[in-house]
Amino acid sequence: MTKSINFIVQAGGNLQGEARVPGDKSISHRSIMLGSLATGTTHVKGFLEGDDALATLRAFQAMGVEIEGPNNGEVTIHGVGLDGLKEPKEAMYLGNSGTSMRLLSGLLAGQAFDSILTGDESLSGRPMRRVIDPLSKMGAKIESTEKGTAPLTIRGQAGALQAIHYDMPIASAQVKSCLLLAGLYAQGETSVTEPAPTRDHTERMLSGFSYPVKQEDNKASVSRNGQLIATDIDVPSDISSAAFFLVGASIAPNSDLTLKHVGINPTRTGVIDVLKLMGANIELSNQRDVGGEPVADIRVRSANLKGIAIPEELVALAIDEFPVLFVAAACAEGETVLTGAKELRVKESDRIQVMADGLQILGVDAKPTEDGMIIQGGAIGSGCVVSHGDHRIAMSFAMAALRSSGTIIINDCANVNTSFPDFVGLASRLGLNINSENIS
Ligand code: S3P
Repeated sequence: MTKSINFIVQAGGNLQGEARVPGDKSISHRSIMLGSLATGTTHVKGFLEGDDALATLRAFQAMGVEIEGPNNGEVTIHGVGLDGLKEPKEAMYLGNSGTSMRLLSGLLAGQAFDSILTGDESLSGRPMRRVIDPLSKMGAKIESTEKGTAPLTIRGQAGALQAIHYDMPIASAQVKSCLLLAGLYAQGETSVTEPAPTRDHTERMLSGFSYPVKQEDNKASVSRNGQLIATDIDVPSDISSAAFFLVGASIAPNSDLTLKHVGINPTRTGVIDVLKLMGANIELSNQRDVGGEPVADIRVRSANLKGIAIPEELVALAIDEFPVLFVAAACAEGETVLTGAKELRVKESDRIQVMADGLQILGVDAKPTEDGMIIQGGAIGSGCVVSHGDHRIAMSFAMAALRSSGTIIINDCANVNTSFPDFVGLASRLGLNINSENIS
């Protein structure tokens, strides 16, 4: 049995051609959730067949929803209606997926049955009080470990949840979405304000399913007694997966790459803004609306990047892209400073520490700070780095090899499958000299 996967990436090369990266992870999760709770049949195409979205799919199957696929990204969901979920026979295992656990917590709090949510080692260490506390204020009954982590036992409070207004102390789309989903079952109007804009896929998709949702400035609200009406969903490519190639093609000389059908929801495009501030050559074309989400083709060519102070207002809009942006900073001329990004410490890994450790192994002057990092651009050496089971760390260091002086070996890469199945195949087709090795 394969226990672990290493990536071995030879130095140099460039990225050329045209590609479509896999479907958006956030939208794929939400398509299963809302499709399951809708009345009627929802057809999804472009669904991300990665472990995270599949964990959500299996959870809904375990709650009695008939779901066909995925088959080449196509999924058919036979919705059971808002009150149609059934008690799962056992604990629902959600693997590495924070989005599944946090969004499901809200949704399950209002059901007529109890449920247990578990996850892998990383997910079992991630903070869940950020959803448990506001849900408890709504009348939810959720038990966690003493540290406020999974496993979570959720005692369904059908009919008994009360709406609240919640002023989120941190900018989190998972917390916002969790509360909006609980709000579908709560008496009164549930509203959430956020300290900075975060991805709004839940709000957009609720509207796509004809569910009334109010959005004003930094506040989103829902009330119960609405109905979700099945619809068809075309999931755009994930800008967070595209980001590895946006950076790779920027840092590797003689690169010219076009990524097709990428989601460019303005709450997700911080990575493009940061790279452009660094001097990247990125052009968007063929902009269109696909089922309520903006999409474009993105062309990226090599550029001489320069270090910048990353504007704090871009942090939430690029929250998943910092591992690869740190690689861009390592290849830029001068200093790059990130502040206001403490949340990176509680992602799939502590992304500030793990990236700083790896960059230092590769000879980069990278200083972690409490809420960010200071990186002096310069040469990237060779070496063996550890991803700590974090998919985005693994793919970021793979891109670093485009500018390294020697081979980069990355340990513990199996979780790349959570968000980017066949990353190795696509990356090598586009010009990265990457191989994977199974360790048993
Ligand atoms: C996500 C929200 C973000 C992001 C995660 C996906 C979502 O998390 O980092 O990868 O789908 O809502 P936070 O809400 O914790 O910032």
